[in-house]
Amino acid sequence: MSVFLVLMACGGRAVWWGPELAEDLDPADDVVEVHLRAEEATAAWGVGTETAVWSYNGSVPGPTIRASVGDTLRVVFDNALPDADTTIHWHGMRVPNAMDGTAWVQDPVGPGEAFTYSFVIPDAGTYWYHPHLMSNEAVERGLYGAIVIDDPDDAQVDLERLLVLDDVDLQPDGVIAPFDLDESLINTTRGRLGNTLLVNGQPIGEGPLVDHGRAGEVERWRLVNAANARTFDISVDGAAWRLIAEDGQPIDAPRSPGLVTLASGQRADLEVLPGDDDVTLTLWIRVPEGADIPISAFRVELDRSGSAASPLDWRPPTLPEVEATEQTVDLLLDGDDDGSAMTWTINGAAWMSCDDMLGGDPISVRQDAPTSLRLVNASEEEHPFHLHGQFMLEQERNGEAPPWSGLRDTVLLMPGDDVTLYARFENPGLWMAHCHILEHSARGMMTAFEVAP
Ligand code: C2O
Ligand code: CU
Repeated sequence: MSVFLVLMACGGRAVWWGPELAEDLDPADDVVEVHLRAEEATAAWGVGTETAVWSYNGSVPGPTIRASVGDTLRVVFDNALPDADTTIHWHGMRVPNAMDGTAWVQDPVGPGEAFTYSFVIPDAGTYWYHPHLMSNEAVERGLYGAIVIDDPDDAQVDLERLLVLDDVDLQPDGVIAPFDLDESLINTTRGRLGNTLLVNGQPIGEGPLVDHGRAGEVERWRLVNAANARTFDISVDGAAWRLIAEDGQPIDAPRSPGLVTLASGQRADLEVLPGDDDVTLTLWIRVPEGADIPISAFRVELDRSGSAASPLDWRPPTLPEVEATEQTVDLLLDGDDDGSAMTWTINGAAWMSCDDMLGGDPISVRQDAPTSLRLVNASEEEHPFHLHGQFMLEQERNGEAPPWSGLRDTVLLMPGDDVTLYARFENPGLWMAHCHILEHSARGMMTAFEVAP
């Protein structure tokens, strides 16, 4: 497998640095057609060995899909995996329900079969795609890619970078460790934590990924956490930087939080202003007992140092007017240990399989009704709660207002957290909601909303 990191300038847009952009096969200006094929490949992830992986179009991450808000995106997908059914889910995008890639809305795409996804892109931002069948196995094996949706009103930067973070659990021989969830208390408790950190599909055990930059330029970094379970805390050293968007959506105003927390499935966009020094992206790896371990994941070496550019004026978000709520949904997230594995529950129910799911009762909510969604984490583990097809606005966490506001599709609950979210459920259909620690959702922590007028 080769990893493509390309530098290119395209029609007035900023220079692009990151996993290769998917080729747009439709000549129309407002249609982007991309062909994706799920297929086996190999990757140089282990020390001195090749790892057999699953890929989109031969690379991990798969091609980066780039389009503009309002475009039609058509993805012609074929499954060339020898032996596995799959689908594609467009994580964070408010797509029409039939295009969501879950078992509620489509049949699995079997080996040798094809499916075309097509929808008008409703929102700008940073998103990603991955299968929604056996996700814990499929994503770990390499089936994921990023999506960048431009807004013509966004501030113009000089350089756009995409950094897709992952960790993979490799055996010493370079083979991806087995997926025996029923027998793994460790993997079902915290989730599967890999021993090999990857940035844009490249292992960083021997040192960070490196590129070049210049003082006085404005860079936008888009980060995606594609790891099955790991939460990364990230910081940038050597330059002034600000958090400008979370889960693709601009936050109320750019912020300088020092550390940005990125749970599985979440995204963060940063404004980075190189000046006098090389710039480093650090991942802070949490360890159960002891201080977090800093790992240098990416470094920008300056071809020219000097004074930094001024920060830009970023497009403010359109946040919903929070109205008196007309419906309330309470979800209790908890777990049970049966001695050999954890079972994870939402309001006491565990959906461990497609049959459980399709036999389970979705939560009915009225479309467009202001809704209060209260999540309580009664367990001792973290749960990044992901809702399909809608955005959520955090109102309160453990009795306090959040430090800033912005729309999200994935909200992290630490052990004991009690979080109230506001949602409008504007998008009708059957939408899944689940923990994005993929071993937790595989072991039951999953539900669905039925949104109807
Ligand atoms: Cu990123 Cu339901 O998933
Ligand atoms: Cu969880």
